Amino acid sequence: MGTAQAPSRVEELRQLAARIQGAVEAYAHGKVADTHEIVRQCQTLQHRAESPETFAERLRYQPLDLCALMIAVEGGMLQALASRGDEEVTADELAEMAKRPKLHIVRTLRLLTAIGVCDEVGVQRYRANDKTPVMASKGQIGGLRVSSVPVCGITTKIEEYFSMLANGAQAADTYPPSAYVYTFGKPMYDVLRENPDRRADFDAYMAARKQEKTRTWHTVYPVISELSLALAPKGKLLDTSEITIVDVGGNRGHDLESFTDSNPGFNGRLVLQDLPETIGPLLADGKKRVFEAMPHDFFTPQPVRGATLYLLLACLHNWEDEACRKILQNLADAMRRGYSRLLISAMLLPEVGAGRRAAELDMQMWVLQQSRQRTRSELEALVHSVGLEVVKVWENGERESIVEVRLPENGTNGLM
Ligand SMILES: C[S@@+](CC[C@H](N)C(=O)[O-])C[C@H]1O[C@@H](n2cnc3c(N)ncnc32)[C@H](O)[C@@H]1O
Repeated sequence: MGTAQAPSRVEELRQLAARIQGAVEAYAHGKVADTHEIVRQCQTLQHRAESPETFAERLRYQPLDLCALMIAVEGGMLQALASRGDEEVTADELAEMAKRPKLHIVRTLRLLTAIGVCDEVGVQRYRANDKTPVMASKGQIGGLRVSSVPVCGITTKIEEYFSMLANGAQAADTYPPSAYVYTFGKPMYDVLRENPDRRADFDAYMAARKQEKTRTWHTVYPVISELSLALAPKGKLLDTSEITIVDVGGNRGHDLESFTDSNPGFNGRLVLQDLPETIGPLLADGKKRVFEAMPHDFFTPQPVRGATLYLLLACLHNWEDEACRKILQNLADAMRRGYSRLLISAMLLPEVGAGRRAAELDMQMWVLQQSRQRTRSELEALVHSVGLEVVKVWENGERESIVEVRLPENGTNGLM
């Protein structure tokens, strides 16, 4: 028998458990569309239920989760398990399928089952769960390779890099521009340009991020109804053949493809722009796509003038303010007053109480690219600094919101 716990602590834990129950009921009755609040309340309960020592231990051991994941995916173990669907698979079978020693399978899956990546159903027997095929997918593995693994490398240099910045021993503009450059000797996009395999990982990862419907730009911003309100003559349907949408920095076109999947009647012009190394393979394979693929560096003047919509999705967080202003200025110069709109998607940091994911993404941008996530007011200030105006922010909770931007009615830049 343990000793009775202090009533105040027990009461706190009971209240937190009741909040979880409340969040589950809200979800069950359709009052919220997703399970974010349930997860948030569970995390608070875990945090409060753990002793400070257990809490410290959990954080300290977290990098080992990544080690196990990398052993499993680079060794094909997780892919082998996922390929068997709901079937039970033994360590012997996995060893045979992945051509890895059985003991490696057992030790790796011991940790991965403990953290929920797959299930253990008996002695050295495993089964994929709903997380397994996702973790074993090309896009998620790509994300581990281009983001999580480099962050681990950077961590080994963190003390050196940040002490150097803090000491101010040299003029700031002579420092490597990011912890990534300090660690690997060149910027992330240069590494991707020089390494087609990593570039393919990055591109697969970009598409995988958008698998959740709540993250698609056209779910957050109701394109057809908004454009109908603005452009269709009263009482008439919108003629989409007159619409041009340009996805700037749109990677391999997943956002335009999911838009046409959801709006099969759309027959306007869609243009995908990205760096030559991203667009090149799309031009080379000769496949017919829903969009025109156009190599374009967004630091140079925008070639498609007066489009209806310009999309700039998850791009600005890769750049510090001065670079963002150049990107925005090039778009402002191409926009037509009273007609063109720019949709910027960004995970907006709240002024207080940022969720874990938003704060993590900000840290990731800092160490990988010396860039940042922004608060709503920081993003608005950037937009205003190039003579554009924010018309509306389409909020999306802890996911990417859409900031809708136009040229002001009586400004001087852009097309008339
Ligand atoms: C974080 S990804 C976002 C991709 C996509 N918009 C999305 O939301 O999934 C940033 C994109 O910007 C592209 N990019 C980087 N530098 C660029 C440049 N100078 N001109 C155009 N695109 C660039 C990258 O290749 C990458 O596809």
